[in-house]
Amino acid sequence: MQHLVDTSDFSDKQIAQLLEDAKNFKTKRPPQLLHDKLLITLFFEASTRTRSSFEVAAKRLGASIVHLDPSRSSAKKGESLEDTFANLCAMDPDGVIVRHSENNTPQRLADMQTTPVINAGAGNYAHPTQALLDLFTMVEHFNGDIKDKTIAIVGDISNSRVASSGIRLMKRMGMNILLVAPKPFMPKSDLPCYEKLDDVLDKVDVIMSLRAQLERHETELFENYDAYANQYCITKERMKNRNILLLHPGPVMRNIDISDEMLTDPRCKVLEQVNNGVFMRMAILKLLLLDS
Ligand code: CP
Repeated sequence: MQHLVDTSDFSDKQIAQLLEDAKNFKTKRPPQLLHDKLLITLFFEASTRTRSSFEVAAKRLGASIVHLDPSRSSAKKGESLEDTFANLCAMDPDGVIVRHSENNTPQRLADMQTTPVINAGAGNYAHPTQALLDLFTMVEHFNGDIKDKTIAIVGDISNSRVASSGIRLMKRMGMNILLVAPKPFMPKSDLPCYEKLDDVLDKVDVIMSLRAQLERHETELFENYDAYANQYCITKERMKNRNILLLHPGPVMRNIDISDEMLTDPRCKVLEQVNNGVFMRMAILKLLLLDS
């Protein structure tokens, strides 16, 4: 039984297969490969993109999907996470897709070895399907040639599971990674760290902007979001005509993370990431439910 807790669960060969399958699914609508499969989603945190993307991916491949809303489940009556999961597993699903605020929840459930567990985002530790769809978007953009490309990750890196998973995967793929953030947003890292966005713009092929999560920080770092945006918002004035691919996992805080103008610029691939997310999640479901 194979799980997806983080991308290290996949071999290099499997990652190459995922990229190939996602590309093929994007080119040609696939047959109902998973018509006899049933998935359950268990999201303890809010989601727009990931949950709906998994549902669309499952349905495109013919699988059925059931959503359990933990805010209306027996978790509210004190049932433990493990008991909730065990009860869902007793219904014989072919996989459970879980999002949780605690870093180790997907691993804890995977260790029960009852059904494949797919991590849809855990704490600030891992968001492997986002990392893989971002990889797919970059591989597609650079025609497969991402080794030695340089990416700047900009924003609240310390709170970001997208950054954590992305850094591990992009390092593995041979990319150069720069971190750009105010000190309190910067994790402990052996990567090159910058406080000023303007210092990296001539060095990078890709910018991954992250949502400013000022509310997660106990001390007030900036007077308001405008003060943060003044230093870190990706604007046309900052980008000029540089040939930089601009990514963001969403939700984008307009004119704080990325300006309205840049969001409609052809260099910005935020909605392409969402589009690619469906194809990558189809590839992941195929690998875990059919090929493993
Ligand atoms: N990128 C991402 O995880 O978005 P959601 O929180 O909307 O799923």
